[in-house]
Amino acid sequence: MQKALEICDKSDVAEGSILKVDINELELAVYHAEGAFYVTDDLCTHGPGSLSEGYLEGHVIECDFHNGKFDIRNGEVVAPPCLVEIKTYKIIDHDSKVVIEIG
Ligand code: FES
Repeated sequence: MQKALEICDKSDVAEGSILKVDINELELAVYHAEGAFYVTDDLCTHGPGSLSEGYLEGHVIECDFHNGKFDIRNGEVVAPPCLVEIKTYKIIDHDSKVVIEIG
């Protein structure tokens, strides 16, 4: 069954920035990109890189470890050496909080 999990205030994440959130045994990266919020796992699928420490450009996050890239909207790999997509989380509409669906 899907559950709603409140992970931060929208005001915690400035436009163009990323916030790491540790909650419920999840390590998440929350992005505020081009007016919208997105949430992925923080740990890069390629290795020990933390995506919240990477470089955000538009909807693409570049891991600062080996420079692999993912699309934060759907988790797809955009640039190697990453091969496996990053997990993304559906955001439930809420005025002031970032709330995700977990299952
Ligand atoms: S750990 Fe992220 S690209 Fe290698």
